[in-house]
Parts: sequence; C-alpha cells; structure tokens
Amino acid sequence: MLKDRINDLHAQVNEMSASSAEELEALRIKYLSKKGEITALFNEFRTVPNEEKRELGQLLNALRQDAEGRINALREQFEAKQAEADKLDLTRTPDPIALGTRHPLSLVREEIEDIFSRIGFTIAQGPEVEDDKHVYGMLNFAPEHPARDMQDTFFVEKEQGVQKPTDVLLRSHTSSVQTRVMTSQKPPIRVLCPGRVYRNEAISARAHCFFHQVEGLYIDKNVSFADLREALLYFSKEMFGPETKIRLRPSYFPFTEPSAEMDISCNICGGTGCSFCKGTGWVEILGCGMVDPNVLEACGIDSKEYSGYAFGMGVERITNLKYRVKDLRLFSENDVRFLHQFEAC
Ligand code: DAH
Repeated sequence: MLKDRINDLHAQVNEMSASSAEELEALRIKYLSKKGEITALFNEFRTVPNEEKRELGQLLNALRQDAEGRINALREQFEAKQAEADKLDLTRTPDPIALGTRHPLSLVREEIEDIFSRIGFTIAQGPEVEDDKHVYGMLNFAPEHPARDMQDTFFVEKEQGVQKPTDVLLRSHTSSVQTRVMTSQKPPIRVLCPGRVYRNEAISARAHCFFHQVEGLYIDKNVSFADLREALLYFSKEMFGPETKIRLRPSYFPFTEPSAEMDISCNICGGTGCSFCKGTGWVEILGCGMVDPNVLEACGIDSKEYSGYAFGMGVERITNLKYRVKDLRLFSENDVRFLHQFEAC
C-alpha cells in the first residue's frame, strides 16, 4: 500500500540526523533528488485511483515539506558551526589571566622592611605559638604584670578542655622575637621582626583578636638614644614624606629604659590640626626605647659592654595612616571590592 510506505518514510524523515555536511547531502539525494525515494512516491501517485488522490496527495506533500524542512534546519546548524570555526583565530594572544591584588598589609609591611633594610636591618622571625619566658619573662615583665592576664593573652590548652593557664601561649607582641634573636646571635645585632600577634579582644572596627607588628632591634657597642631617634626620623620621612616631623614622648615599657612613644606630624593636615589628629597636629605611630639592661642580661648579653635600642609598630596603624583604612575588620574579611582598590599599588 502506498499509504503505508508514505507513513514509513515519514517516520524515517522525522528521525533523520547527520554528523557532517556530506552525510546531509547524502540524505537529500536519498529522499529528494530526481531518483530519491520521495520523488519515486510522487511518480507512483500518478497511478492511484482518483478517489484516493486527495488523501494520499496531502500525506505526500506533508512528507516532502517535512523532509525539506528538516534538511534545511540541519544545513543551517552546520553553517552556523562553520561560521563560528572560521572566526576562531588560533594565532591570537589569549585573554590575560586576571591576577589577584597585593594585600594592603603586605604592601605596607614590605615597605617598612625595605626602608629599614636600606640602613642595614635584616629580617628575623620567631614562632607565633610561644612560651611565657620569651614573650614576658625575659622581657622584664613582672610575674603579676596584667599583660599576662587571660584577658589579654590567649593561652594554649595542653589538655583539651582544661582551661587553666599554661606556659604555652600565642604571642601578644613581636618583642618575643627580640629574645629569640638575642639568645641565638651575638652582637652586633640589627634585625627587623615582622609578624602576626594575638590578643584576647572583642572584634570591632578598632580592635581585633589578631593583628600585625614590626619590631626593630639594634644591639652594639655605644648605641645611644640619638641613634634611635635618627633611625626613626629617617623611617618616618621615607614612609610619610620628607616634610614629616617626629616627636618622642616619655612612656613606659618593661623591656626598655628609658621608653618613649613616637608621634609623627599628622600626614593628613601636615600638622596644622584636623579631625584625624583631633586638632593636635600629631599622630602616634610606635613605641620605642633603649633595651633595658635586665633584658640584655636575661638573654646572655653583657650590658656593660653592649647597649641597644628597640621599637615596635602596628602594621594596621601605619596602613590606616597611609591608606585611610579605619575599620580593622576590612583587613581580614577578604572582600574583593576592598582588596581591588590596591590594584595599582
Ligand atoms: N611590644 C610593644 C607592644 O606590643 C611595642 C613596643 C614598644 C615594642 C616599645 C618595642 C618597644 O620594641 O621598644 O605594644
């Protein structure tokens, strides 16, 4: 029956697929060319009785339309693929890989290191998990000094769940690297000790449970307070510009005697007074002093032969002054909208 053969062919046409332009051309020839199977059915159609012509004619036309439609659709697919392939230029340089940005704290730490390396300081590092001796004891902290208190210091539990303070702790300042260096090297010593420190503080815009410091230590014969002042003035001018002035105010630290805190002329208003420096024209940036003879002796250095100076500054504080980052939390949140602002630095 012609009708059955039309339906069979229609089913085949609906399933038609080709994986290349050649295969597609072969299908067109098979079904639609002069000698094709659909053309053959049209030839046969001429001989069917008149009363069947209407129904079979409609079926045959639908079959031919579907076959043509399907072949055209497949051809368009191949042509689109070919156009895409023609566009691909294999000689073109690939898109650049998007690089990350330097973290502002790394930028500032490296700048501090660079400035001090130019006057002979080398880098020294010590452990973040420390013991009481290196963080407090050898630095002349009295046994009952409040910094040792659990309010400030994170103690490491020796046994899980045991809360009582132990000798093992997270260092609360990089001054601990001083004791590590002084007990392992002989003077002259001239080191810069950058690193992370931990304090038991509630996290806010102005305080964090970890932050970064850079410690400086210089031990030699005849080191004087004037040497300290000169080194810090040089640093301040290099870091904040040649107009920068410094001011040393008497202070107290257990490990230095005499001790001082250093202010720089406000780098925002230039010293005339603004809201940043609370109208004073000065901003505090570090603590410093002459290494206490008790510290030298505790580390096995003869305090009659040698003297030295030390200083310590917060990297976040310097970064705040340089880049106006006021909220400390931004440094550890890794929000790329913040970090990308340092792309050009
Ligand atoms: N360790 C002090 C602190 O964390 C900073 C400091 C002050 C370091 C005076 C020093 C120094 O070396 O001489 O607050």
